[in-house]
Amino acid sequence: MESNLTREPKKVFSRRRWIDALLGTSFVAWAGAVVFPIVRYLTPAKDAAGANKITLTDAQKTELGNSGFLIARLGSERVLLLKDKDQKLRAMSAKCTHEGCTVQFVPADGIVWCACHNGKFAMDGRVISGPPPRPLAAFSVEGDLKGAVTVSKGSAA
Ligand code: FES
Repeated sequence: MESNLTREPKKVFSRRRWIDALLGTSFVAWAGAVVFPIVRYLTPAKDAAGANKITLTDAQKTELGNSGFLIARLGSERVLLLKDKDQKLRAMSAKCTHEGCTVQFVPADGIVWCACHNGKFAMDGRVISGPPPRPLAAFSVEGDLKGAVTVSKGSAA
């Protein structure tokens, strides 16, 4: 008769099943590490909720009032807001249509300038000179610096 002390414990996991489980888990982890970035890259980024329209904060209005221009985020886009010589607010894409650099407003010259390749735009976004092939996309801006200023996608009417 065999005693309980000499009996070997029952193998719940054989060595082969253990290796299979380890390899299966490793494959799933590897596939996730490869597939997830590809799927994420191929899926277009979604704008944050309400990103079709922004209302400027008091700090942004102060900056816009002091410097004459401001670059703000509207969802995933950069928007250039500026005050023209009549103190009217204008909004346009801050992404140069040549190779996508961020443009800046040069108040002294009254132009929007892209430093990457010296592209120049008028205050309404038209191309004045340089390599940009198209005007800057217009955004709609409502309000003034005394009250609420909202910027939304789509050209101003
Ligand atoms: S990226 Fe603006 S001029 Fe080239």
